[in-house]
Parts: sequence; structure tokens; C-alpha cells
Amino acid sequence: MARSKVQYGCTGCGFISAKWLGRCPDCGEWNTLIEQRNEATDRSIRKRGPEAGEGSPVPITQLGDDTVERRIESRIGEFDRILGGGLVPGSVTLIGGPPGVGKSTLLMQVALGLSQSGVRVLYASGEESVAQVRRRAKRLGKLDDRLFLVAETDLERILDGSARVEPTVLIVDSVQTIFAPALGGTPGNVSQVREVASRLVLHAKSAGRSVLLVGHVTKDGSLAGPKTLEHVVDAVVYFEGDANPPYRVLRAQKNRFGATGELGLFEMTNEGLMEVSEPSMALLADRPTERPGTVVTASMEGTRCLLLEIQALVAPGYPGSTRRTALGVDGGRLAMLVAVLGKAEFTLHDKDVYVNVVGGVRVTETAADLAVCAAIVGSLMGKPLSNDWLVLGEVGLTGETRRVARLDQRLAEAHRHGFKKVLVPKPPAAFQAPTGMTVVGVTSLEQAMQELFFG
Ligand code: TYD
Ligand code: MG
Repeated sequence: MARSKVQYGCTGCGFISAKWLGRCPDCGEWNTLIEQRNEATDRSIRKRGPEAGEGSPVPITQLGDDTVERRIESRIGEFDRILGGGLVPGSVTLIGGPPGVGKSTLLMQVALGLSQSGVRVLYASGEESVAQVRRRAKRLGKLDDRLFLVAETDLERILDGSARVEPTVLIVDSVQTIFAPALGGTPGNVSQVREVASRLVLHAKSAGRSVLLVGHVTKDGSLAGPKTLEHVVDAVVYFEGDANPPYRVLRAQKNRFGATGELGLFEMTNEGLMEVSEPSMALLADRPTERPGTVVTASMEGTRCLLLEIQALVAPGYPGSTRRTALGVDGGRLAMLVAVLGKAEFTLHDKDVYVNVVGGVRVTETAADLAVCAAIVGSLMGKPLSNDWLVLGEVGLTGETRRVARLDQRLAEAHRHGFKKVLVPKPPAAFQAPTGMTVVGVTSLEQAMQELFFG
């Protein structure tokens, strides 16, 4: 039986339905389903099957050791690092972020770095003219004849250009501005975005080219089209937070060839994005002294440990309509910690609570719980902590504190930056603190606040 050629895709989450629905059953948004033709997508998915000779099953023991991938390095160390050592030939990487955060800037720097290392690069821009792109390139580095530019929105012509130039790396800026003419609809709609991405995946795999694909993310983080591409591409790298100066946080959200969660810190300058080589030091540089409501914690971001300043402000609020604002920490987690603090006699029901992680970094680890609590209690009581305290630990619903992973690595980083006192959930008896560092072990939130503020 012939397959239906019409389907309905959600512009929010990419959910596909055979019939039109008023509300997307996947993301719950209203009026987001739009008609799309699935013929071309089907065709390109079918074309993406295993190549000749690759389709027959082989016993695992008969496979050789030649699985170590060659990496293409861009000379932008932080970028290569979060990808696990550079670009993998034949892979597709999505670079997402809000407009103005620096996606085009970063990719031009990558393009310049690659071309100077002798790698051929084609930069296809659907947003700017070649003159504009060249102007930016000139400002960011040295021009090289191995870097090719094209200003084009037609996918077919970009692929033709790529076949002619034969670059090792193809950069497409951005997926929302490029359209596949075979498919109807306007550029940027879900079926167009998917088609463009799956054609580029096909191109990358068949020609062994690395493709870097830019995708705009809206402010609320709901990558209008690109969210639906995450499973199509090999790696996804997002610029976190707003385009708020001066730091930019780049993080690998998905990586088929390396660890996820790896974080790179950049500073936006007149010469483009500069790597920050000592992120902990940079993030703590302007830390206020003798002010209540600031606490430093050590957070594992991928394989790297970062010292982060957590700030809290507790202000009088209207009971019943108090605000809980979380920037860089999870809102649900903050609500939970506020409730646990309430049980421990730190009453916040008539207070507004604001929590912020300095530098625009997003903390995903529960190991920051105790530091969030300490910042809140400090602000609530107007008591500053001395500057050499570091606070670590998860807080449970009963107010118990729980151990964190990789304590050694975190303490080593804190020690390197001159922290002398660390508050942690009681470590095992065999635990050895770095020399010159006092480690205070606690078992509950109450005990932790007692040690910090009344000890
Ligand atoms: P851009 O890379 O174009 O952002 P995106 O592609 O993510 O939309 O530019 C980001 C901002 O950075 C832009 O407002 C101008 C600024 N910028 C600098 O401050 N220094 C530079 O060297 C460049 C190229 C841009
Ligand atoms: Mg751009």
C-alpha cells in the first residue's frame, strides 16, 4: 500500500502525526502542528542505509582495532576539547545558541584555524553576503586560500559547491536559512530543517566530510527546528545562557565520539571569542569580599572541575506570592531546597529568593545544593562567609547531606586556587585532605549551617 505523503509535524518538538491535531500530544503546545510532505525525508532516510558491504553482520571478535578516529583539530583548543579532541571526519555537529551569542564568530575562527593548518574549508552562509563574511574573517585572523566562501540559501547549490571544492570541513550557517528546493514550504519550517539536515548528514557520510551546522535557538531554549535535529546529528554543542557579556559558555550536549557535558569558556572581545585558559580564576575574579550571600562551590563540568560562585539574595516578599528566581540552577531544585531550609528553621515563606550562578554557567549537579543553601542562609541572616570557604554537597529531602563524586579532584582544584576550608558531607575515614586544607565533615543541613555561620 502506498504510504501517505502528508503528515503533520510539531514546530515545537518535532513530533510527527498522521493526522492533524490541535494540541501536540508530545510537548502539549497548542496549534503547533503543520502539514508537511514526507516523501523527500523518507527518500533521504532510505538512502542513508549502510553502504555496500557494510550491511552484513560480523562477529565482534573478527573486527580489528582500527576504530581510533582521526581528529581534525581547529586550533581553537576549547572547541576541540569539548568535541573530544577535534572534529571527526564524516561527522555532523550542530552548533546551537541564541542570536548574537557568537556562533558565526566561533565558526569563522574555526574555519580560519583549520585552513591555516592546511585543511580545506567551505563556509556557506545563508545569512550574510560573502563581503560581510570576509570582513568578519579579516578581523578575526589571517586569510588563507584553502578557505572558500559562498553566500547561498539553496541546499542543492551548496552541495554542488561542496562537490567542486571538496573541502574536508563544510560549515553551513544556518540550518534555518537554507532550503531544499525539492520540498515545499518556507526555509526554517520543521520539514525543511529536517530535510536540510538529513541531506547534509548523507553528504557528510558519503563524502567523508565534517559538517558544522549552525542552528538558532530561541530565548526560552526551545530550538524551534534544531531540537528536532538532535538525534540526526552526531554531536550537539550549545552556547548556554544569554548573549550576556563577557563570557560565553559552550557545552557538548550530545557527542557520539566523546564525553558529553564538556564545557568550554570563551570571552567575547574585539578580536572574536578568546579561550579562557583558567576558567575558575576568571569566574571568581570579581568576587565580592565580606558580603553576605556569596558562596563558592566546585562543580564537575564534564571531565573538568570548575569553581563557581553562587549568589543568593533574600528580600522581603508578600506572603502567598513570593518569588523564587533561579538563574543557572534548576528552578525545581531551588524550590525543594527552600522547603528543606524551612524545615530547618530558616523560614522563607514571606521572602523572595533569587539565586544566580556568576558567569552564565548552568549548574546541573546536585553537588551544589549545600552551597545554594549556604548562600541563601548567608543573605537571610546578613552574615558573610570568609573568602577561603568552599562548600560542597547534595542535600536530601530530610535535610541529610550526601556525598559527592570525585571529591579528590574538586578539592585539588580548590586547593590550587587557595581555598583553605572545605565543608563537605562526612567523607570516608580513609579520606586524605590536601595538605594545608581543613575539611569539615557534616551529616545534615543544620549542622552545615551551624559550622559555617555559628562555628
Ligand atoms: P555573531 O557571531 O554574528 O552571532 P551569531 O552568529 O550567534 O548570531 O556575533 C555575535 C556578536 O558578537 C555580535 O553582536 C557582534 C559581536 N562581536 C564581537 O564583539 N567581536 C567580534 O570580533 C565579532 C566578530 C563579533
Ligand atoms: Mg550568525
